[in-house]
Amino acid sequence: MSVRYEQKECRSIKPARYVRTLAEDVLAGLVEPPRKLPPKYFYDERGSLLFDQICDTQEYYPTRVEDALLAEFAQEIIHKIAPDHILELGSGTSRKTRHLFRAYQDRSGVIYWPFDVCREVLVETAEALALEFPQLEVRPLLGDYSAGLEYLPQLSGRSLYVFLGSTLGNFEEEEAVTLLRELSTRMSAQDRLLLGIDRAKPAHVLRAAYDDNMGLTEAFNRNLLSVLNRELKGDFRPSAFSHRAVYNEEMSRIEMYLVAKMQQEVNLETLNLKLEFSEGDSILTEISRKFTLESAARLLGKAGLTPEEHYTPEDQYFSLLLVAPERSAM
Ligand code: AVJ
Repeated sequence: MSVRYEQKECRSIKPARYVRTLAEDVLAGLVEPPRKLPPKYFYDERGSLLFDQICDTQEYYPTRVEDALLAEFAQEIIHKIAPDHILELGSGTSRKTRHLFRAYQDRSGVIYWPFDVCREVLVETAEALALEFPQLEVRPLLGDYSAGLEYLPQLSGRSLYVFLGSTLGNFEEEEAVTLLRELSTRMSAQDRLLLGIDRAKPAHVLRAAYDDNMGLTEAFNRNLLSVLNRELKGDFRPSAFSHRAVYNEEMSRIEMYLVAKMQQEVNLETLNLKLEFSEGDSILTEISRKFTLESAARLLGKAGLTPEEHYTPEDQYFSLLLVAPERSAM
């Protein structure tokens, strides 16, 4: 079997700026209230698997809705942009992105650049894609997009950047602007960004999506403590914390917490650190912002970007935005 990607190693992308280690995030975020940790630590092997299972639950609509939008509009998007390059931030298993490759049909000369932090997933995905889309050239990029995009390869021709799943919603306003600004700086006038954003909607729908009946989101949330135990020789008892998902209407975001069920003490041997929790003490483990078209456009505008096309179902539960650098519209 000739598999093209095998000649190419997964290219490592040097971070453009310093990113905190897990140990540093724990010291900065867990020692005193308000306690919080960045959501990126959810995604070890078990966490990634749990997230995949969450995507298949009845309650978690975003993946389903976004997938259906891509299935419906991939052809139109590819026809409109005709990109020579597709570069995806946080590509994972590239499940939804495949709709774009299918839309190419037999055209060759397209290069797909999946950019992700997990080497195993990148390599496996590149293998699978090479078999499934023989015309597609896949060049995996290994790295953390939150450390900056400066060292991504320079691409010639038209590029379509892809950032799906409403992962943008995991970032606070300033972080999101920084990331989008870095993208817009890279983009030439004919390049576009395909951005998935989750929309504001009735609180009960959102709460259910982040607190499914099968308890998968609860397991996903608590898995963070297992990650800490493994990485920092900790003795967290995940069952001593309960999962809580609240919709903060004012900030238009879901907040996921782990709440101590009782007074307890936790040791992280690697850091020589003792953490004290009283009953009810909480750790903010994730925010997931829910956008209106206006709030999304405002955020994009701060980064020099402007929405050009909008794809959404009738209930407007989720949106795909095709986004252009502002100078191209002038
Ligand atoms: C993958 C970040 C988009 O915020 O909805 C799912 C992660 N957390 N259930 C989201 C998640 C809880 C998800 N993102």
